[in-house]
Amino acid sequence: MKSKRQSPSERLPINPFQPDLLKGKAALVTGGGTGICRGIALALASAGCNVAISSRKQEHLEPAAAEIERAGVRALAIAGDVRDPAAVEVVVTQTAQTFGGLDIVVNGAAGNFFCLAENLSPNGFGAVVDIDLKGTFNVSRAAFPHLKLRNGVILNISATLQLLGTVGQSHASAAKAGVDALTRALAVEWGPAGVRVNAVAPGPVEGTEGVRRLVTPESMKMIDDDCPLGRLATIDDIANAALFLCSDAASFVTGVVLVVDGGLWLRSARALAGE
Ligand code: COA
Repeated sequence: MKSKRQSPSERLPINPFQPDLLKGKAALVTGGGTGICRGIALALASAGCNVAISSRKQEHLEPAAAEIERAGVRALAIAGDVRDPAAVEVVVTQTAQTFGGLDIVVNGAAGNFFCLAENLSPNGFGAVVDIDLKGTFNVSRAAFPHLKLRNGVILNISATLQLLGTVGQSHASAAKAGVDALTRALAVEWGPAGVRVNAVAPGPVEGTEGVRRLVTPESMKMIDDDCPLGRLATIDDIANAALFLCSDAASFVTGVVLVVDGGLWLRSARALAGE
């Protein structure tokens, strides 16, 4: 079926954009200490942006903050739980004060685990919705007064599991479907204030906690067989899409949920002959 698979040499390099794409801008990346959001934070830094990163644990943030500084920009590491609106207010205000304003917010803080709905407690369901969906709202709401002063941008981290009926993911699917809806609603409400709101939706991404927790060797084989572009996504794939959406190259793009999965989720219906 597949005629051409991407080889590693065909992958884009880290940051194929102009090195000064975001020069002088300031960003806040929640969940920016590890995984995909660490990759996005580093990509923003490599484009000249000062970057604050935030998550629940300060010790998760320090190494990534040091890497951001090595890109020649300013870094800030602030612990704060996105579920706590008062803590979020402090994180946002400190970021804006330190950098003299705020242009970009990446809502990446997330929690997830595999659990069948019948075994999931109401508190377990709520914990994921509170972090992923309500956390995205809390941070966006706190950041809006700053963003509207500078034609700012919000980038939400969505997923593809909510596009299908993903087993063991009722909690995360509900949360991410909410994130997609919030992306569209805020794009419409805040567009007139000059603020763009988009989302990037990764499928499984190589070397992340999500893949370690959720992808079995069997599903890894399925991904390898099914993905039209023939491989697992890398963190750089997601970071490059994020950089585009956060930059002026996407200045007329708002309310979009950009799937970055090599076409994997489109291949989920495989019932036809020839498949
Ligand atoms: N299976 C079923 N339920 C689980 C669970 C699992 N693997 N992990 C947590 N829960 C439930 C807990 O049992 C609890 O419900 P209960 O009070 O009814 O027992 C509820 O979720 C909250 O758990 P708790 O550990 O107290 O909350 P927390 O706020 O410290 O952490 C998460 C919640 C979801 C963030 C936690 O799974 C976590 O810390 N994950 C690591 C980071 C992560 O998920 N990264 C993203 C990977 S894709």
